[in-house]
Order: sequence, then structure tokens, then C-alpha cells
Amino acid sequence: MHELPVTLTVNGERHRGTVEPRKTLADFLREDCALTGTHLGCEHGVCGACTVIVDGVAVRSCLMFAVQAEGAEVTTIEGLSAHDGTLSAVQDAFREEHGLQCGFCTPGFVVSVHAFLADHPVPTRNEIVEALSGNLCRCTGYQGIIRAVERAAKTMSGAG
Ligand code: FES
Ligand code: FES
Repeated sequence: MHELPVTLTVNGERHRGTVEPRKTLADFLREDCALTGTHLGCEHGVCGACTVIVDGVAVRSCLMFAVQAEGAEVTTIEGLSAHDGTLSAVQDAFREEHGLQCGFCTPGFVVSVHAFLADHPVPTRNEIVEALSGNLCRCTGYQGIIRAVERAAKTMSGAG
């Protein structure tokens, strides 16, 4: 099949590849960039496990073709912690509040929450619940995740 060149900046690093036009951004990140922290659950836009940030906006990378992200700045779960491995406030809050069990959904939640808190630094509980409604978790019952978002918001706003 005809392939197209694609160049993205992922977590601050340039990645170039040649891909079939139908290759998803999720597959490009996992297979061509070796960034397997972006998980694939449903592969049709329902579960949110594949969420990444593209030019500041949280997107489902299973629904976007890699070529559609040409020239974009992409942040994946691997790009959220510091280079020395220090967890982000959101990651730390998920750990502290037991916001994960099997962890399969967790990268998508953490990335979604980063994008959400960037736009809503002092969210209400209802806003948090609404923001999390696009991510599915089969294990936690969500309460720990909601507490994690509340904790992260407090930490990031200096109130925690
Ligand atoms: S794998 Fe993309 S939304 Fe489920
Ligand atoms: S922690 Fe298992 S699916 Fe969410």
C-alpha cells in the first residue's frame, strides 16, 4: 500500500516515520515510537484508554490517523513525569488515593486529567465526574479516581 511520511514531536522529541494512511496515531506511538504506555482497549473511541494530548487537546488516539497529526506536538503518558522519574502531581495523586487497580485504564485517565486540570484548575466534583465520563474503568469503582483528581487539583493550585 502507498505510504506517507509523517513527522511529529512526541514528549519533546521529534519522530519521523513512513506509514500507511490508515495507521492510527495510537499504533504509530506504540509501534513506531515504542511508547507503549498508550493503551488500546476498545479501538473505537469508547473507553479512553488511548487518550493522548495533541496540540493541547485530549484526543483518542485510536480515532486519529497518524498522518492527521503531521507536525503536531503530542504528549503521552510517558511525557508527564519528570526526566528523573518523579511523578507528576496527577500521577502521585492516583497512587496516594488508590485510583488504580489493574492499571490498564490508568494512562488514559491520567492524560485526560492533565488536560482537564489545565483548563479547570479549581474544578467542582460535578465537573470532575463529567470530565471522567469519557474514560472507562472496570476495577476501581471510580471513587479513588475522583479523590485523586481532587487531590491533584489542590496540589497543583498550591492549596494541598
Ligand atoms: S482504545 Fe481508543 S477509546 Fe478505547
Ligand atoms: S484500574 Fe483496571 S480498568 Fe481501571
